[in-house]
Amino acid sequence: MYYSKEILEVAKLDIEQRKEVEINASELEIQKNYIKKIKEINNIEFSKSEKQKLYTLVTYGCQMNSHDSEKISGMLTEMGFKETNDENLADVIVYNTCCVRENAENKIYGNLGFLKGLKAKNKDLKIVLCGCMMQQDLVIDKIKSSYKYVDVIFGTYNLYRFPELLYTSIETKGQIIDVWKEHGEIIEDLPSIRLHPFKASVNIMFGCNNFCTYCIVPYVRGRERSREVSDIIREVKKLIDDGVKEVTLLGQNVNSYGKTLDTPVSFASLLLKISEIEGLERIRFMTSHPKDLSDELIQVIKNCDKVCKHLHLPFQSGSNKILKKMGRNYTKESYLQLIDKIKKEIPNISFTTDIIVGFPTETDEDNNETISLVKDVMFSNAFTFLYSTRSGTPAANLKEQVQEHKAKERFNKLLDVLKPISYEVSKQQVGTIQKALVENISKNDNELLSGRLDNNMIVHFKGDASLIGQIINIKIIDCKTFYLIGEKL
Ligand code: 5AD
Ligand code: SF4
Repeated sequence: MYYSKEILEVAKLDIEQRKEVEINASELEIQKNYIKKIKEINNIEFSKSEKQKLYTLVTYGCQMNSHDSEKISGMLTEMGFKETNDENLADVIVYNTCCVRENAENKIYGNLGFLKGLKAKNKDLKIVLCGCMMQQDLVIDKIKSSYKYVDVIFGTYNLYRFPELLYTSIETKGQIIDVWKEHGEIIEDLPSIRLHPFKASVNIMFGCNNFCTYCIVPYVRGRERSREVSDIIREVKKLIDDGVKEVTLLGQNVNSYGKTLDTPVSFASLLLKISEIEGLERIRFMTSHPKDLSDELIQVIKNCDKVCKHLHLPFQSGSNKILKKMGRNYTKESYLQLIDKIKKEIPNISFTTDIIVGFPTETDEDNNETISLVKDVMFSNAFTFLYSTRSGTPAANLKEQVQEHKAKERFNKLLDVLKPISYEVSKQQVGTIQKALVENISKNDNELLSGRLDNNMIVHFKGDASLIGQIINIKIIDCKTFYLIGEKL
């Protein structure tokens, strides 16, 4: 574990005393104390100015990051801040960053330019950067030299220390950087503010050991580690008591959940245990790696009513040559066999996937293999990405990088195939009656509600906002490419 020089300078005594202390429940108490201290500062300022302190939190990237952001929101709320979407009004602005692709990083640098102007107007504004991008030395060097006005920086391993770092920044001048190179113990019970009262995400594991050759996640999120079953069950039970009906279990590859626990447990048996929790109605999970999805898991999805009939199963490329170079450990044929096996067992299941176009050495023929796989599987939706070189990954050293215009051409060709497939899968739903968890008022038409079906598809229908949070029967009467149109029964 490593503390940057800066934090040693500003908080030397405190950190030195605790360097050897194991991170455990007492660490949580220490952070709660910092939360209290900041709350006191905010209360005093409120009594003087009657102005509520505000925060803006911008989240980039995947569901893991969104879930981390719920914890950051939880901590800020306990500190006495209220949320605003208007950065101009905020006293604290947090960017929870992603580095999976280069354009995510460029967006952050672009936005930081805008924040410089805000900081010039309001010297007390605190700018906080955290998340995956901060785990890279080059990024930290760049922020230190070109973005000196950023106040607090921390990484993916020490999110729970945010209160202490923010407090140190309020009390001192200068940039506080605290990025660890390794993970510590898993910290349980951080406060959290959920986006929806009726559904929640739950981390079951952290990190990834797969090292797909294009991917930076194993370097910025570290080695795989699973939470204890009892801790997960306790969290889910608490969520149910709070009114949650649907949980999504999160891990980079949930198939390898539990392998490194003192008493190893399979993901399938974790699912079964969670499904026994009374009051819980739906369980989702993501992501599954196609290389090690077990028969036991297929049977649990099939036989357990609470487990949603949807699999997000990224295949990345349909070309065996490219899959090998990506280090994915399966072939196009074995992927298709797996899909066939699952479809036979669970005919009403839906599949979504991730695809990368333009991986080094990819040819038009390789892209055609991807297109043929997509046609065979019939995905309800696919997340398609242009390959982005990530320095430090093995693929960055491959000589034959694909020219940008070629990759874009293949990307568009793939999209032209994917869209009618999604439409076809949507059309197959028309005429059926399915249960939907009503999530919100439709973004495009405030007369309509949006619900999510068991198979993860979205349905819009007329209804009263009081239905939000309920699971109701919907008759699917029509469809568009990426959503269904229904009638409440
Ligand atoms: N370039 C493009 N896409 C990537 N992904 C991961 N790394 C890269 C990269 N370097 C995609 C994969 C993964 C998803 C979360 O992001 O498709 O499944
Ligand atoms: Fe990245 Fe592969 Fe791990 Fe997914 S499984 S996070 S793509 S290394």
